[in-house]
Amino acid sequence: MTGDREPIGVIGVGWVGLVTAACFAELGHRVVARDILPEKVAALSRGETTIHEPGLDELLARNAGRLTFTTEMAELLDAARLLFVCVDTPPTRSGDADLSRVRSVLAELPPDGEHVLVMKSTVPAGTGHSIRRERPGLSYVSCPEFLKEGSAVEDFLHPDRVVIGSDPGDEAAGDAVAQLYEPLGGEVVRTDVASAEMIKLASNAFLATKISFVNEIANVCEEVGADVAEVARGMGLDQRIGPAFLRAGIGYGGSCFPKDVSALKMLAGNSGYHFQLLGAVIEVNELQKRRVVQKLQKHLGSLAGKRVALLGLAFKPDTDDMREASSLVLAARLEGEGAEVVAYDPVAADAARGLLDGVELRGSALEALDGADAAVLVTEWAEFAALDWAAAAESMARPLLIDGRNFLDAGLLQGAGFEFEGIGRAVQTPVRMGPAS
Ligand code: UGA
Repeated sequence: MTGDREPIGVIGVGWVGLVTAACFAELGHRVVARDILPEKVAALSRGETTIHEPGLDELLARNAGRLTFTTEMAELLDAARLLFVCVDTPPTRSGDADLSRVRSVLAELPPDGEHVLVMKSTVPAGTGHSIRRERPGLSYVSCPEFLKEGSAVEDFLHPDRVVIGSDPGDEAAGDAVAQLYEPLGGEVVRTDVASAEMIKLASNAFLATKISFVNEIANVCEEVGADVAEVARGMGLDQRIGPAFLRAGIGYGGSCFPKDVSALKMLAGNSGYHFQLLGAVIEVNELQKRRVVQKLQKHLGSLAGKRVALLGLAFKPDTDDMREASSLVLAARLEGEGAEVVAYDPVAADAARGLLDGVELRGSALEALDGADAAVLVTEWAEFAALDWAAAAESMARPLLIDGRNFLDAGLLQGAGFEFEGIGRAVQTPVRMGPAS
């Protein structure tokens, strides 16, 4: 239908790459996406989606005619001039970003000067400069991604902003990338490469800082008898603060915040600057994952031999992603205290298997709660709000629930007979029920 649209190459078909490929195909571009894993390429070529992301299956199916998955770099280089690099940059042992996959991609690119490397992978500020120094023939554009797992398709198609960094000599390449995003609306921020790289890292670090800040406020609220949800609502109405990312809980996880906060801290340190604030953000987050253990001990005493049910395992709802999920640390700490841990997650159970040694995975929330001495809501899956909590209370050895995401209705849980505690708010005791008539 829109045959005049520029073909796109996508290198690395992980979560960012697959969403990017599907969304550009939806915009009418022919997309050739390359991954080094033959099984993944074969599955995608058969129409099987490799990740859980709302709306993605439909997009891939609808645009199958415009999408090609391949293991061959040559096929991609033939088909497209604009090459979106979407390989992962996990943390190294030192906490820096591991650029080895980016380096492998570079090694495969010809020195022809025809292609434009569009960096979507999150890289330390300065990476673009060093690549351009090493590969003077290659046009380079930084175009960081700001997608959230669970709403990535929506975020791609309706961006708050699109950041495009190009340096002198590569303005035309920057223009070509800007043109791709034009139909989506959203403010386009044109800048130099290093600033674009910093925008990405600073944005994630700031959001993580907001979360750690509100988590510390929650901990103080518990001491002084305030309710963090009310405090966050009152703060968030100030336009200078804003309401987003002020939900207190048991810490942030995922493949981005932990890695990017650490990478920015290390990047600063490597350049001779000690980024103190980020050190605190990381430490608060680590402690926050463990606070639930103290809450349980307050109610139950020693956890040795007690059965604790974890509701939700994924790092957030609507994803099966277990990377840096708070559940991993929490389960290990509970087991360390001698507790028996059972768990249920509607989607992430397969991903969790093998990561949670000794944790028994159950097929439903009610099965996990059956006979438990306490439950912890770890991930705010919608189905937990609709659970038959009265039946759950009946089946538990002790109806005690710690809501690690301040997600459930305290009144409802109290009415169902639960002892109930959230994060940064008062402990609720059960409402005494009259005899059943
Ligand atoms: C994050 C950013 O939000 C995206 O803009 C960015 O593109 C992405 O990282 C990335 O760099 O790839 P994501 O990791 O998918 O996206 O998830 P978020 O929705 O940001 O949540 C991260 C964690 O923070 C979750 O564990 C969530 O439960 C927690 N969180 C979030 C809170 O504890 N409180 C909040 O108020 C918000």
